[in-house]
Amino acid sequence: MVSQSIKLGGTAADISVGRVAVAIKAGVDALPAGTKMFLNSGEFYDSKWGTGNLQLLSRFYNKYPEYADKTFLSVKGAMSFAGGKIAPDCSMEGLRRSVDNIQKELGPIKKLDLFQPARIDRNVPVETLMNNLVALLKEGNFSHIGLSECNANTLRKAHSIYPITAAEIEVSPWAYEKEQKAVISTATELNISVVAYSPLGQGFLTGSIKSLADLPEGDHRAGYERFKEENIKANLAIVDSLKAIAEKKGITPAQLAIAWVASLGPTMIPLPGSSKASRTLENLQGGDVELTAEELKGIADVLAAHPVAGERYYGAAADLYLWG
Ligand SMILES: NC(=O)c1ccc[n+]([C@@H]2O[C@H](COP(=O)([O-])OP(=O)(O)OC[C@H]3O[C@@H](n4cnc5c(N)ncnc54)[C@H](OP(=O)(O)O)[C@@H]3O)[C@@H](O)[C@H]2O)c1
Repeated sequence: MVSQSIKLGGTAADISVGRVAVAIKAGVDALPAGTKMFLNSGEFYDSKWGTGNLQLLSRFYNKYPEYADKTFLSVKGAMSFAGGKIAPDCSMEGLRRSVDNIQKELGPIKKLDLFQPARIDRNVPVETLMNNLVALLKEGNFSHIGLSECNANTLRKAHSIYPITAAEIEVSPWAYEKEQKAVISTATELNISVVAYSPLGQGFLTGSIKSLADLPEGDHRAGYERFKEENIKANLAIVDSLKAIAEKKGITPAQLAIAWVASLGPTMIPLPGSSKASRTLENLQGGDVELTAEELKGIADVLAAHPVAGERYYGAAADLYLWG
């Protein structure tokens, strides 16, 4: 059993969730009664950008209907894949299509708790985006609004129109730059949950990836800048140093990364992903780890001594609508 829970932000301030967001039954069962598990999905979460993950959730809720109320489900959508080009579509039509499709795939047992456009659409002003989202919320399509990959200004502007419950951004010891710091400080000020995705550096910070050969065949990370062989080599210095701090404390490197992310502010919810129940439980325990001032300084020293080699994702080679 884990003990740490946290209240969500914005319109969901009366909901207590586990400190770490994970999947699914093993994680839910490890939480105290009355605390929900924050689950995160996407309309396009499968290997072919399809609804495979929503279908999995639908099977889960069909089998365990009593878990509908034990989970707080956040789903990203409003992406267009027309003509082989991936881009956000936050027009009213794009948002409505997405919300309808998500609920259709989820089925009747679990209602979408929080909807968020996966990326901010530069063709739609924030005011219009929020008015569209609020209209869909008031129709009863979902209960709370989140934003994914938003910058601090967008978050503040959106929140002034309607309370934002969660901002989902990448945060980890190798993804903590001025943009993350600005979103975290704005979210702390406005009491918005920061759902910190990829807190394990897409697995790299756990120490299990030492070369490109450690990635499974066809793995999407192989194309990322930080996973180029020369960058892996350079970035291993970060992993080795963090591993030493974790070992000294008697925790795993994954738990250290999760505890560090949680330490960044009172509204932080680390969101690690794993396909394995044992790792899900290991990661969940990371939310109960308190780092001392000395350990936090040790981690800060490691990050200062070893600047991260390689950009996030594909760097300048691809526009992924980051920090919109
Ligand atoms: N908003 C967005 O744009 C966005 C983007 C990316 C991700 N996300 C969300 O964030 C979640 C997590 O991100 P992520 O999966 O990219 O990165 P992550 O959580 O940093 O890392 C996941 C990777 O680490 C491995 N792993 C997990 N726990 C481990 C442990 N204790 N020891 C060793 N290895 C471990 C997993 O492998 P195994 O499966 O083999 O355990 C997987 O390869 C996703 O599931 C998704 O919901 C959101």
